[in-house]
Amino acid sequence: MVDCTDRHFRWAIRQLAPKTWLYTEMISAPSLIHGTPARFLDYHPSEHPLVLQLAGNSTQELEQTAAMGFEWGYDEVNLNCGCPSDKVQNASYGACLMAQPELVHRLVKAMVRASAGKPISVKHRIGIKGREDYAHLREFALAVMDGGASRLIIHARIAILEGLNPKENRTIPPLRYEDVQRLKSEFPDWPIEINGGIRDLRTLSAFYERFDGVMVGRQAYDNPYFMAEAERQLLCSPQPPSRSEFLQLLVDYFEPFEDAGEHWHRLLRHFSGLFHGLRGSGDWRRMISPPWPRLRIRDLVAKALNTLPPESLESNTLPGFVQLDPVSGKI
Ligand SMILES: Cc1cc2nc3c(=O)[nH]c(=O)nc-3n(C[C@H](O)[C@H](O)[C@H](O)COP(=O)(O)O)c2cc1C
Repeated sequence: MVDCTDRHFRWAIRQLAPKTWLYTEMISAPSLIHGTPARFLDYHPSEHPLVLQLAGNSTQELEQTAAMGFEWGYDEVNLNCGCPSDKVQNASYGACLMAQPELVHRLVKAMVRASAGKPISVKHRIGIKGREDYAHLREFALAVMDGGASRLIIHARIAILEGLNPKENRTIPPLRYEDVQRLKSEFPDWPIEINGGIRDLRTLSAFYERFDGVMVGRQAYDNPYFMAEAERQLLCSPQPPSRSEFLQLLVDYFEPFEDAGEHWHRLLRHFSGLFHGLRGSGDWRRMISPPWPRLRIRDLVAKALNTLPPESLESNTLPGFVQLDPVSGKI
């Protein structure tokens, strides 16, 4: 997620969710080729399993950048065919590629050539306006899988490329989970992951049974203990650290970046929802909001640990979460 899943956020969420597959922000192939690769590609080894998400429309550029991703050690490279922003559309990347299944077939094939057997996946919508029925989804998915993709991640909404901005494109087109379900029923051997609007453990658990994976975007970002609780209940991951332990981990991780000139806001901006549903949540948000105090991260966190309610700092659970049955994974 652009502006969200940078390396700092990924490292931090990994402390709460040890098994979840993490994705980079979408990176355009030309900016990777012409920019400083380390700026886009560097990560901490603990971020694995880790997917590099690319945007592009040139076989040559996507082959080259997929190869760079695998050389850098990424576990999978993903092609974005779901982003509806004007900028991405003007470059003919993202969701507008859903109108050109034949081109995407060739793009995937080129990426597969660079992959040395590692997985190439595609993230896409169920359609775009004008090509929004199941037959179009099926045609697109067949082209992608025939190109050699090993996994589809499907956001269960169409994208409306004219008249809606990206935010509206994540809320206004209705969710049509049934289209993703129909594709999975028709092609049960294809690994298909579902995405879109999944904000509670009950829905996540139900989808986890029916699909090969569930991608969670906004809820994971807004409420980081959601992923911790999901992993603990569905994947038997250990208890996550408490909020205070988590903050201390962040300090140790971030100090070298701070020494190199980065401001703690680069990291803590991702965690305004850390105390979501707990006492002191508003105080925490104010502490990390501008104007930012001229403090080192260690001092800022020390201040938070001294001020916020101890029961919130000691909590390592998701407030108000639903306890699933530990054997069946159901409610
Ligand atoms: C701020 C923001 C940035 C996003 N950036 C990307 C991106 O870079 N690549 C991508 O595939 N999806 C991106 N998305 C879309 C999400 O991955 C996801 O498909 C969408 O939000 C629906 O899932 P959710 O309801 O779980 O959030 C972004 C979403 C948001 C809110």
